[in-house]
Order: sequence, then C-alpha cells, then structure tokens
Amino acid sequence: MNAKKVLRKSIINNLKTMSVTEREQRAEPLYERFMKQPNIQDAKTVALTVSTAHELPTKPLIEKLWSLSKTVVVPRVSRSKARHMDFYILSSFENLVTSSYGVLEPDPIKAKAIDNGLIDVVVVPGVAFDHEGFRIGYGGGYYDAFLFEHPSIATVSLLYDFQLQRNVYVEPHDQRVDDLIIEGDE
Ligand SMILES: Nc1ncnc2c1ncn2[C@@H]1O[C@H](COP(=O)(O)OP(=O)(O)O)[C@@H](O)[C@H]1O
Ligand SMILES: [Mg+2]
Repeated sequence: MNAKKVLRKSIINNLKTMSVTEREQRAEPLYERFMKQPNIQDAKTVALTVSTAHELPTKPLIEKLWSLSKTVVVPRVSRSKARHMDFYILSSFENLVTSSYGVLEPDPIKAKAIDNGLIDVVVVPGVAFDHEGFRIGYGGGYYDAFLFEHPSIATVSLLYDFQLQRNVYVEPHDQRVDDLIIEGDE
C-alpha cells in the first residue's frame, strides 16, 4: 500500500473508533461555524453528501439548511459516465436509497435532478486534509473530477482535528477545497 492509502486507512480507523455521542458532540460547534459562513447564508443551493456511519454527521446540517429554506442537493454516482456525479434535490430523507457502495444516494425516481451549475456551495467530504485544503477522499476521485469541471463553485469541508495532516500526498489531479472548518479553530 502506498503512503496515501496507508494514511486514508489510518484516519478512517480513527473515525470508526469514535462513539456516536462523541462524533455528534464534537461536530456541533463546527455546524455553528458553518451556518455563520457568509457564502452559506447567501447560498440558495447547497450540495452535501449524506454521511455514512463513521463520518462527521451531515444530517443535522441538512436539517439546518432545510429550516432556512435552502435547496439541498445530494450526489448520485453516474452509472454510465466514469467519475461523474449528478445532483438531486433532497426534500426528505425518505427519498434516499442505499447504493451498491453502501452509501445513501437520492432515489432518481423520487428526487429531481438539477443542473450542476446551479450549485452555490459544495460541502466536500473527505478523510484527511492539509492546511491548503488539499484532501484525501475515499479513493474514487469523484470530487477531484467535479471541482476540476466546476472551478467557480465555492467549496467547504468540516473536519475533526485529527483529520488535519501535514502531508496528504497531493497528486496532479487533486483539487483544493476553499474553506476548511477545523475542530479547535476559532
Ligand atoms: N482527473 C482525475 N481526477 C480524479 N481522479 C483521477 C484523475 N485521473 C486519474 N485519477 C485516478 O483516480 C483515482 C482516485 O484518485 P484519488 O485522488 O486517490 O481519490 P480521492 O480524491 O477520492 O482520495 C486514482 O487512482 C487517480 O490516479
Ligand atoms: Mg484526490
């Protein structure tokens, strides 16, 4: 395994050792800072993923955005195009289905697809990040491809302190996240 894969695995293991309560409690201050960001307050449409069990929970964020009448969109991995995601409007958690990768995705029958260009801010999921916003994701390269295609869309990630790393073994195709909301920062 190369260094990037070793680091990805080690941070995922750290995430998995957190209890549900710890995961939620430590995320709460990050949600508050996220909601105060001017680009979130101004956004009409925000893209997020629905977190899996070991990740920083995103359902509370989705609910907060709904309560402000923001349009929340979530990605579905394309079955036909390589490394491509389509985004669908999420108006209820009931419109989600578990994909073959084990992640919750919008049910394309129940949810409406949107033009990716309408997204104002993308909340980028990730495993490890460096100070410049470069990241290690889950190994699919989906967000690298998306951000390369849509360089003007604002991006933000929320992370626990141990996800911030000095070296994330940046490769030429890796794309930066604009703003990091890091646990412990002000
Ligand atoms: N333009 C590209 N965008 C994204 N991934 C690419 C691209 N070209 C090649 N890849 C390959 O896709 C895979 C996933 O990339 P990686 O950056 O490790 O994933 P992630 O960002 O999800 O951690 C790697 O094997 C990488 O070499
Ligand atoms: Mg990458």
